[in-house]
Amino acid sequence: MNMITKELHTEVNKRRTFAIISHPDAGKTTITEKLLLLGQAIQRAGSVKGRGSDQHAKSDWMEMEKQRGISITTSVMQFPYQEYLVNLLDTPGHEDFSEDTYRTLTAVDSCLMVIDTAKGVEDRTRKLMEVTRLRDTPIVTFMNKLDREIRDPMEVMDEVERELNIACAPITWPISCGKSFKGVYHLHLDEVYLYQTGKGHMIQEKRVIKGLNNTELDKEIGEDLAAQLRDELELVKGASHEFDLEAFLQGELTPVYFGTALGNFGVDLMLDGLVSWAPSPSPRNSDVRVVTAADEKFSGFVFKIQANMDPKHRDRVAFLRIVSGKYERGMKMRQVRTNKDVVISDALTFLAGDREHIEQAYAGDIIGLHNHGTIQIGDTFTQGETLKFTGIPNFAPELFRRIRLRDPLKQKQLLKGLVQLSEEGAVQVFRPLISNDLIVGAVGTLQFDVVVSRLKNEYNVEAIYEPINVATARWVSSDDTKKFEEFKRKAESQLALDGGDNLTYIAPTMVNLNLTQERYPEVTFFKTREH
Ligand code: G4P
Repeated sequence: MNMITKELHTEVNKRRTFAIISHPDAGKTTITEKLLLLGQAIQRAGSVKGRGSDQHAKSDWMEMEKQRGISITTSVMQFPYQEYLVNLLDTPGHEDFSEDTYRTLTAVDSCLMVIDTAKGVEDRTRKLMEVTRLRDTPIVTFMNKLDREIRDPMEVMDEVERELNIACAPITWPISCGKSFKGVYHLHLDEVYLYQTGKGHMIQEKRVIKGLNNTELDKEIGEDLAAQLRDELELVKGASHEFDLEAFLQGELTPVYFGTALGNFGVDLMLDGLVSWAPSPSPRNSDVRVVTAADEKFSGFVFKIQANMDPKHRDRVAFLRIVSGKYERGMKMRQVRTNKDVVISDALTFLAGDREHIEQAYAGDIIGLHNHGTIQIGDTFTQGETLKFTGIPNFAPELFRRIRLRDPLKQKQLLKGLVQLSEEGAVQVFRPLISNDLIVGAVGTLQFDVVVSRLKNEYNVEAIYEPINVATARWVSSDDTKKFEEFKRKAESQLALDGGDNLTYIAPTMVNLNLTQERYPEVTFFKTREH
């Protein structure tokens, strides 16, 4: 092995790149903060979310987000943990939920699913899990809020198995909950970790009892509770799956941890499991070959473009996931789509929230490229090789509005702006075949406001929205030319072209979509579309 290969292997093997999937309010922000604390990237919990503080001003990029008090803390956070280097990618969650949230999941190697154990499986988690299925991403689960009255843990695990179609293997098990929450038992280590209240903002010294049958346990939590725990664990071991690394790596089984993010309890045990089991940067498919992380030549793809991160410059930053090799400052990269070579001397890294210029980065890392409108979502960058990564799709929008100009003379600018913003992934635009309407489709509501505000600032176009009766959209194609022509004729009033001129079926209701699909079995309706 030569020096470069050796260096690459070492760097790749220690990297873990993941994102958090959860329903709003399940505790994503809180757990992120505790992860940063464990990675010693912050000194005290409470500083990430501190509203109105300097930290807040530094991390909230878009003016509108500031006004609305939405805290997009950071897009990518890198921190060391044990001998590993963790890249945690933010998945915008509340009002800022968008297609970026989905697409970020195509740029990670594993996911942490956070569940509010008082509530169980919620809507957003279901949707995000569906996206992770596109790549069978390995999932680690954290059952949160054990300091509250929760539902029966066994029942919640059953719900996860049933609704998300993934086997659960408990690694830790809770001892009571709410006011009487005592801690967790670690099934693999045969150790009990005792919960201490009021220490959520710091790294705690662990209080450990070795062995489930240790009499210390009876003293600490009382004989009754100890006996109950022993009985319960017999049941749990009998009724649940054992951890199986292969099944985990295939996305078929999830290790489950219990704890409280707010109390910073159990998060460290979960992170221990995640870094040791989650895969290091995995291979990616391209139109030419499978590219592995330790390939010496640099390659990567753009999965997100963020506008106006720095209000002083109206620049956009393209987030590139490095698939293989190493980035070095000043290196030449080829943007494959345009076949242009560019020298990148000022890529950004994201060391726990600070945007910094970096000297080098490796497969699994995310770098930020300054973008003056030339980079698009899905772009591949290489060291000269012509290949294009696949699996960075557009997702069918879930919300639709008709967009209209205040000044009708600016129709051309409006279309230009919308097409560019759709290339950037900010929004999707559809033009019905039979009318001059312009329909904007998005995954989250904030995207609509972002588009109007950017149209005004960047294209000098004043636009407003009108409601429209559209429930969902599907990209359509068929191998059967004759049947497809018939479909296009009969369904013309529901067909539109998207920003890239791809034919799309615009359904007024889900029932209509189902009926149409039944009526035209030769036509395929796609929920995602490759760039
Ligand atoms: P999110 O990013 O997933 O939306 O959730 P976030 O971490 O903001 O948590 C949502 C609410 O749940 C917050 O309370 C947070 O303090 C609380 N929370 C998170 N983890 C736990 C936990 O383990 N136990 C308990 N009891 N609460 C937890 P909030 O009052 O809505 O916000 P804040 O004013 O405290 O920031």
